[in-house]
Amino acid sequence: MTSASALAVRPAPRLRGDVRPPGDKSVSHRALLLALLAEGESRISGASDGRDVRASAAVAAALGATVERSGEDPRAVDYRVVSPGRAGLREPLRILDCQNSGTTFRLTAGILAGLAGFAVLDGDDSLRGRPMGRVAAPLAAMGATIAGRSGATLPPLAITGRAPLRAIDHATPVPSAQVKSAILLAGLAAEGTTRVRETVATRDHTERMLRARGVDVRTDHLPGGGAVHALDGVARVRALDERVPGDVSGAAFWLVAAAIHPDAELTLRNVGTNPTRRAIIDLLRRMGADIDVRPVGAAGEEERGEPVADLVVRSSTLRGIDVTAAEVAAAIDEIPVLCLAAAVASGPTAIRGVGELRHKESDRVAGIAAGLAALGARVTVDGDTITIDGGRALTGAAVETHDDHRLAMTFAVAGLVARGETLVRDPGSADVSYPGFFGELERVRA
Ligand code: S3P
Repeated sequence: MTSASALAVRPAPRLRGDVRPPGDKSVSHRALLLALLAEGESRISGASDGRDVRASAAVAAALGATVERSGEDPRAVDYRVVSPGRAGLREPLRILDCQNSGTTFRLTAGILAGLAGFAVLDGDDSLRGRPMGRVAAPLAAMGATIAGRSGATLPPLAITGRAPLRAIDHATPVPSAQVKSAILLAGLAAEGTTRVRETVATRDHTERMLRARGVDVRTDHLPGGGAVHALDGVARVRALDERVPGDVSGAAFWLVAAAIHPDAELTLRNVGTNPTRRAIIDLLRRMGADIDVRPVGAAGEEERGEPVADLVVRSSTLRGIDVTAAEVAAAIDEIPVLCLAAAVASGPTAIRGVGELRHKESDRVAGIAAGLAALGARVTVDGDTITIDGGRALTGAAVETHDDHRLAMTFAVAGLVARGETLVRDPGSADVSYPGFFGELERVRA
């Protein structure tokens, strides 16, 4: 039963089927925003039609590109973007509404910093609470003028860009692909060599996609797991057609659903397995999950685009593991659903260095701890460590999702194995990254 404000999920006797997750959200955002920077026509196929990606499409249109969306399947839509290129972009007439999307906000901030003109970036109440000083400060150091609430650390941000910017050498204070990407995108409009140093390597879609579009992004991997990225400006981005792989972060819900369910086998089609995104697969395998990774597509595809695989996952006997802070950074969006796997696994799981999860679409540390506890799991939070003493049978209850898509989907998956009825409050947020998720949930249990 579904109503606008709650979804009731009952246990499924078995889970079977083929699932095609939506187009990767991170790649979809970048494909749209890089198409905006490139002069000419870019075609994007298989993009997510989630609300977040639509926000990026609207931003691209507001800055002067012609953006046409086609296709009926919300998991994979196509875009045709025709842009005058960076030099021809226009000052937006209205406030740019990034809605719930931190990626739209931060990457666009990087673009606006290098455009001579004035623009305001805003979003919904969740986004208005998210830290933006981490992009505003380096972009200001590059020469943009940025004002905003709380000393330009919270949205809305008003950005007066400058062309050209000054290149900087910036060490990111927390691992963040969004911050890295914002600075690299600004670096395209900066004179000199822009460098971003990260202590933990984060998802590398921006670097890959810039290289594919003719920008020489150099990455040095450091011994401790960090990386330094450099590019020389002012640099031109070439238009390119992009095929978006399926979202491993969306696939993660099915990986956990099947692994924790006693009678399950699911095949997840066309999932992106970029090494900087696939940590969730490896963490679940370490817990004992039975996951086959069957690569799809031509060898060498990895060079230009993203590696893709079909994933087959079956019922598994999971055991608890220790998850390091670097692994949390590599599986940042999958930690909520990993916590659910840990609740069902035997023995304790400790997940360290989860501080950044407090600054996502909601405070995910509080939200996951409260929701799993409501379902009967033993969860403790001590500073930045979540410990889950697994192995207790879950019992359905009403759970709050704080309008956070990943919490809504995590608790819906919990409902497939919890005794009785799990009432997922405000499930509509799932549309942010995975339109059609609840329809798939019904289909695989049938
Ligand atoms: C994203 C990076 C991550 C992630 C978000 C998407 C991206 O955020 O949580 O869902 O596309 O670059 P941070 O880089 O801020 O950790």
